Amino acid sequence: MLYDNLAVNEQGHLTVGGLDTVALAEEFGAPLYVLDEDKLRENCRTYVQALRENMPEGSYPLFAGKALCFKGLYLVLNEEGMGADVVSPGEIYTALAGGFPAEKLYFHGNNKTDEDIAYALDSHVGCFIVDNHQELARLDEAAGVRGIRQRVLLRVTPGIDPHTLQAINTGRIDCQFGVPIETGQAARFVADALSRKNLIVEGFHSHIGSQIFEAEPFCDAVDILLDFAQAMRQAHGFVAETLNLGGGFGVRYLESDPVVDIPGNIRALAQHLRQGCAEKDYPVPKVLLEPGRSIVANAGLTLYRVGGIKTIEGYRSYVTVNGGMTDNPRYALYKAPYTVVPASRMNDAREVTCTVAGRCCESGDLIQENIQLPEMQRDDLLAVLTTGAYNFTMASNYNRLCRPALVMVRNGKARLAVRRQTFADLVACDL
Ligand code: LLP
Repeated sequence: MLYDNLAVNEQGHLTVGGLDTVALAEEFGAPLYVLDEDKLRENCRTYVQALRENMPEGSYPLFAGKALCFKGLYLVLNEEGMGADVVSPGEIYTALAGGFPAEKLYFHGNNKTDEDIAYALDSHVGCFIVDNHQELARLDEAAGVRGIRQRVLLRVTPGIDPHTLQAINTGRIDCQFGVPIETGQAARFVADALSRKNLIVEGFHSHIGSQIFEAEPFCDAVDILLDFAQAMRQAHGFVAETLNLGGGFGVRYLESDPVVDIPGNIRALAQHLRQGCAEKDYPVPKVLLEPGRSIVANAGLTLYRVGGIKTIEGYRSYVTVNGGMTDNPRYALYKAPYTVVPASRMNDAREVTCTVAGRCCESGDLIQENIQLPEMQRDDLLAVLTTGAYNFTMASNYNRLCRPALVMVRNGKARLAVRRQTFADLVACDL
């Protein structure tokens, strides 16, 4: 099994966190997002502990809400000592509605509107991650009007390509996020920020990409950031208290993917940082990380009910499921790999090569192609593993399909955390 929270019971059914997935689908319906809270907490602890043990005091992980976002999640994150990266007023609203403390929110976004800035300031978010000069000016002004001094980190781009998917790679110079170091623009950005009376500049932020398996690209980013920090100290006497290195550690979607050693990577990163600081005689800054995928992906799976098999003679066999690109658009968007298993018939030989298709009116609505399954029958259950990240949050109502429910599993019990949408929800905004 891909992860240790998955197993097969005597009936040959897939279990998650000890619960029978066939029973879960009967109780809560399908498609269904299932989130194993124990696994989620374990993932949070891995980061919290590794940062606490290896990095200077005050270093901690911020969960990137773009990967998963609903009220109940923020309660767990807070209990586990996580901060949170939020990218929109909607994410701020959700986190606060889930009881998350505003001071542990870090507000991102390359185009924060005046309304966004006002909303975040009035919500007392702890820190803004400022993306550009225009935002600096607007934020400074809005903070001044409110008589506050706002903590900020400045987002810079170190120009690193960690060789991940082009579409989810944000550390290169040519991108819409942050201000590049190499062109000299970041230096002017810092000078501008330091001249603002209503901002407290705490340090720098960079995000180099997603689905990165090793520490090296992060170490490369640290080298570039430290050189930059040193130059800024020489130019302005400014010493960065905090380095936020963004998100991006990868997860195993397939058996053939490597197992990621997160504590080992963080240890290597800490050593590298300390050494770099020692060479420059630079005080070791606090480190923030923004993991999204590696906190929630392997805690989640999606259950689908099979409609049937359609074999196009001489071509291929399609297994249809009662969800698709509406609840998981990642194959349609990125050809993202997933492990698909026959949840109701785990012990049957997987002798049929097939393509899993969703129910949307679009030929690209596929979940995975050319995988091995048993001869699936109508009403069998399929599970797509490792769907905890970027599925729920990227879901849509295309074809007016209702979004699935999300259940959380803990200590052998399941509870509904997000109810299934109804037809009434679909027309709730229609006048
Ligand atoms: N911080 C920043 C500034 C980010 O842009 C991202 C992801 C993260 C943190 C979290 O990265 P993670 O730890 O989850 O890799 N929709 C795509 C992923 C886009 C990621 C964009 N930024 C997908 O489904 O793969």
